[in-house]
This record gives sequence, structure tokens and C-alpha cells, in this order.
Amino acid sequence: MTDNAYFDLEDFLFKERAEVEKALGRSLKYLDRYLPVGLAKPVRDAVMAGGKRLRPILCALVYRKCGGQIGPAAYDLGVSIELIHTYSLMHDDLPCMDDAQLRRGSPTTHKIYGEEIAVRAGLALIPAASLQAIRAIRELGCDEKISQSILIELNCAAGAGGMVGGQYLDLMAEDLMLDSDKLKNVHRMKTGALLTTSLVMGGLAAYASEDKITGLKKYGRAVGLAFQITDDILDETSSSKDLGKNPSDGLLDKVTYVSIHGVEESMRMARDLSDEAVGVLREAGIESPELNAIARYIVERKL
Ligand code: IPE
Ligand code: IPE
Ligand code: MG
Ligand code: MG
Ligand code: MG
Repeated sequence: MTDNAYFDLEDFLFKERAEVEKALGRSLKYLDRYLPVGLAKPVRDAVMAGGKRLRPILCALVYRKCGGQIGPAAYDLGVSIELIHTYSLMHDDLPCMDDAQLRRGSPTTHKIYGEEIAVRAGLALIPAASLQAIRAIRELGCDEKISQSILIELNCAAGAGGMVGGQYLDLMAEDLMLDSDKLKNVHRMKTGALLTTSLVMGGLAAYASEDKITGLKKYGRAVGLAFQITDDILDETSSSKDLGKNPSDGLLDKVTYVSIHGVEESMRMARDLSDEAVGVLREAGIESPELNAIARYIVERKL
């Protein structure tokens, strides 16, 4: 492959992550003013616990690629998605869901603060994410129509038709007798929706053409699924030391790509989706060594 032969993705992600951390700090300063004392620390701990920060990085990257000006506001927009993502992890780890002890290398929120706090800290982040997006949209100077579209994107991807709905179906897997097609849909909803919306929000904020937005949606559809397939593979093949979270799908008897297709076939499917994503970008006329490299990284990552 020559498409990203001269592109240093590791360096790019490192620098972008630093911008995201700054934007998260700005967001927390604002949130701190409103959070009750008992929730402020658990929220801060979870938000600042690290993680790949892929969603805000994608949002800011697409914003620039579609002609937006480099500056802090695009990261502020991306942070709205990261707040939803952080709450989704907090709740995913609860005993009534995946009952996880470790997240991003630290004990999970409910392990430190108890379930009642973890539930409420997560809930506090939902409206906080919308307010964060509104502040960012204002900073970016988006008009009313675009602002509405961005807020609808974020809330649809986060809600019952996206992440929350996918997490519900994930929990109901046994009753629903998930087969390969149904599982694909669960992965697209619980994980793909927020990843796709990160791209689309960046594109909308930069007033990208409809063709470009369609291309970004197709790219997101492919990498979003590939991302969760890889998550399933890593759960089977990696360790809590390397992942910073406890592999648990086997223990929980989860229906995953690995349980249905096995590791090798799942890897092949993820790689095919990564190739598909690169092809889609080319067709949409979006030239980005960064997005090409990220499509590969999503299936080759070890974390
Ligand atoms: C983990 O997401 C949960 C899934 C949607 C698979 P990430 O792998 O992006 O987690 P962090 O943010 O890097 O910790
Ligand atoms: C969770 O999927 C997806 C979310 C919406 C949070 P997983 O349950 O597989 O995520 P991990 O492996 O715990 O990070
Ligand atoms: Mg889960
Ligand atoms: Mg989980
Ligand atoms: Mg997992």
C-alpha cells in the first residue's frame, strides 16, 4: 500500500490527542461550575482517564479536511462526542451490564465510587454533551440550519436509534438469538453510530457538500463496524495489562464476531471493511492520508 507510506500516524495521533486533552480540560472547567460536589470528581476522573480519543480526533480532522480553519473550536465540538462516549463506557461497565472492574487502566467508576454515583455521573454527561456541542457550534460560527443538523446528528447517534439502542440489543442478545446479520446491526448501532457521527459532525461544521457527507457516512459505516469487530478480537486475544480493561466477552457468554466467526475470519472481515473504507474515500474525492491510515489502524491496533 502506498496511500499512507509517508504518513506518520503515531505522531499525528499523539499531537491530536494533546489538543483533545486541552479541549476536555476546557469542557470540565465549564462543567465544574454546575456539577454537585459529589459528582464533580467522578466525572473528572472518568473524562480525564485517557483513552485513544479517536472520536474527537476524527471530528477535528474531518473539519479541517473539508475546509474548516485549524483552531480549538473543532476539538471542542469533538469533545461533545467524547463526553457521550465516556458516559457510555461508565454505564457499559456497571454490574447490570458488563460488570467490569477495569477501564483505561484504572478501576471503573462504580468500583471506586459505587453504582449510584456511577449511574448519575454518567447521566450528568448526557446533557453536558449537548451543551458542549452548542458552545462549540457558537465558537465555530455555524448558521442555524447547520447547528440544528449537528445537534440532531449527535443526539440521534447517542440515542435509541444508535448507541443506547445498540447497548440494549447487546444486553438482550440471548433472547433475540443474535445471528451474524443481527450482530452486525448491534455493532453498527452501539459503536458505529458514534464513530460515524464524529466524522459527519466535523463535515457539517465545515459546510461540506452533500456528496462529501455521504462519503463520510459510508467511510464511518465501514470503520465503525471494523472498530467493534477488532474490539471483539482484542477481547479474545489480548490481556487486561495491554488493554487496560478486563477481557470479559467469554465470561459473559457474549455473542461477538469471535463467538460467531472465530478470530481468523473476524480479522479478515475487519480488514475487508478497512479496505472498503479507503475505497469509499477515494470515490468521494476526500483525499486524506490521515483517514486512510486511521482505517488501517482501526483493524491493526493493539489497544
Ligand atoms: C471502547 O471504545 C468501547 C467500544 C465502543 C468498543 P474505545 O476503544 O474507543 O475506548 P477508549 O476511548 O480508547 O478507551
Ligand atoms: C461497548 O462494547 C460499546 C459501548 C457503546 C460502550 P463493549 O462492551 O465490547 O466495550 P468494552 O470492550 O467494554 O470497551
Ligand atoms: Mg458491552
Ligand atoms: Mg464492555
Ligand atoms: Mg469489548
